[in-house]
Amino acid sequence: MKSLVLSSPGQIELKDLPIPTLSPGKVLVKMKAVALNRRDDWIREGKYPNIKFGGILGSDGAGVVEQVFDEADKSWVGSEVIINPNIDWGPDPEVQSSKYSVLGMPVNGTFAEYISVSLDRIHRKPAHLDFLQAAALPLGGLTAYRALFRKGGLRTGQNVLITGFGGGVAQFAFLFAKAAGANVYVSSGSDEKIEKALKLGAKGAYNYRRQVNFEELWKTKGGFDLVIDSAGGDQLNNFIKVLRPLGKIVFYGATNGLPAKIDLYRMFWNQLSLIGTTMGNDQEFVDMIAFVEKHQLRPMVDSIRPFSKIAESFPDITRPNKVGKIVFQI
Ligand SMILES: NC(=O)c1ccc[n+]([C@@H]2O[C@H](COP(=O)([O-])OP(=O)(O)OC[C@H]3O[C@@H](n4cnc5c(N)ncnc54)[C@H](OP(=O)(O)O)[C@@H]3O)[C@@H](O)[C@H]2O)c1
Repeated sequence: MKSLVLSSPGQIELKDLPIPTLSPGKVLVKMKAVALNRRDDWIREGKYPNIKFGGILGSDGAGVVEQVFDEADKSWVGSEVIINPNIDWGPDPEVQSSKYSVLGMPVNGTFAEYISVSLDRIHRKPAHLDFLQAAALPLGGLTAYRALFRKGGLRTGQNVLITGFGGGVAQFAFLFAKAAGANVYVSSGSDEKIEKALKLGAKGAYNYRRQVNFEELWKTKGGFDLVIDSAGGDQLNNFIKVLRPLGKIVFYGATNGLPAKIDLYRMFWNQLSLIGTTMGNDQEFVDMIAFVEKHQLRPMVDSIRPFSKIAESFPDITRPNKVGKIVFQI
């Protein structure tokens, strides 16, 4: 089977590998579509823990169950499924266990024609999504769901700022927050994306590449209850300025690195919280799918490409005009 392998530092290539053989509790899924995450490129660049060369990358995918090991699981054969990328979250819903990892490193991932996964990792594909849309959902949807609801405690009518609207995770935070009845504001580095967000129902937006008067933003919008961010860097202090008392910044990444300083004075006076989050537990994965089904949400797909083009598509994950997920048809 064709598989995208990390062969050496910085080097990824499509290789022919044997179809995995099944063991107890496992099912074989024939992949129909897979989607790229920033994480895959961090791994290619060597900026990720526990990197194993020769392993198959990929956390996101959707497909059809082709075989099961256990007779009792036979009813799953032929089912259209998406895959939960959590491996060993563990018993505590609040935090992952020390054995936790994400599908696609060090455990072999979705970027292959077949994958063998435990039965409890597969979930029925939401009926309103095709395979390409469904493949875009797992990692980004799960991360955004936990960030907004468990960590951010988002409620109807609150003001939320989602930074970097074009991001794979941010688009889900935008869709979910809107569906939950929040007033959603966005930032982006591109005016085109801002226009798109406003068309899709954002209440306001700003371009983070230009000078923004955050105090002004605060005055006009009444302040934010919640900021969802993955860029990090010095702009954290701007978010602190525009949070309402008791406001929260929930962050799941730090693409732009660390802030040089943090305005602790304003944080304690306004009783603000800065909260880190990672992925989500298995129940949140189930809840996230149910939420997507209930609100009939469709992931934004930036582009659809043949699987044969996956290696050369990696640089496009950081392409400035990307909106949403890059998806590959298998
Ligand atoms: N902790 C976790 O569980 C978890 C899960 C998923 C991702 N992550 C991390 O979160 C980050 C984003 O992941 P992703 O998959 O969504 O990546 P992505 O699709 O590459 O999106 C990144 C987005 O960041 C935005 N951005 C860049 N500079 C910014 C700035 N100064 N201010 C605000 N936004 C800025 C851009 O938005 P525009 O295009 O709109 O300008 C870009 O589209 C990565 O670092 C990733 O490793 C962590």
